[in-house]
Amino acid sequence: MTQDELKLEVAKAAIEYVVPDTIIGVGTGSTANFFIDELAKIKGTIKGTVASSEATAERLKGHGIPVFDLNSVDEMSVYIDGADEADPGLCLVKGGGGALTREKIVLAVADKFVCIADDSKKVDVLGKFPLPIEVIPMARSYVAREVVKRFGGEPVLRDGFTTDNGNVILDVHGLEIVDPVSMENELNSIVGVVTNGLFAARNADVFLCGTKDGVETIT
Ligand code: 5RP
Repeated sequence: MTQDELKLEVAKAAIEYVVPDTIIGVGTGSTANFFIDELAKIKGTIKGTVASSEATAERLKGHGIPVFDLNSVDEMSVYIDGADEADPGLCLVKGGGGALTREKIVLAVADKFVCIADDSKKVDVLGKFPLPIEVIPMARSYVAREVVKRFGGEPVLRDGFTTDNGNVILDVHGLEIVDPVSMENELNSIVGVVTNGLFAARNADVFLCGTKDGVETIT
């Protein structure tokens, strides 16, 4: 099976987690896009969605799926999104698509987090995928120096990229993240950091992992 076929399989499996008559949160990226296309087929069963990026909002609206501003929503049954890496404790690295901040905000409102990804995203220890950090532009050099001082690694400015929030991304290469919760919290304490791509303090509740033998449900 190709990687796209695995992504489609997990997107289909995620439909089982869509709670009728509720608002659901929708992530960003190629796997989330497969999910959006599947969601379109059952759009009449939900109240609507909250999008984690402009790109996702556009795709949802293109299918005629209602998209709500998060400020008008106080309950969300489930958040469904992809990941760049997932460890055995379902802690994730996200933000390869640069949408990490809005993803974390939408997730904060959701009752449940269902992560969908093909099995290439499964790792024993997070960090092979460069860890994205969204940073206020004027703080980028300071934040990069602090990251190296505290954790090592090599922060690289994502070239020519601006987030939906008008900020920049530092991708930190060469980390071995053995304690993702403490690293997530400490990174957030650096002035100028908006969000980092560790989803560990709030990790996934369910990981639908696409394998050549079918979709594995990991909880
Ligand atoms: C975007 C993300 C994505 O979920 C992550 O990059 C995975 O993307 P894809 O499904 O295309 O592999 O965090 O900010």
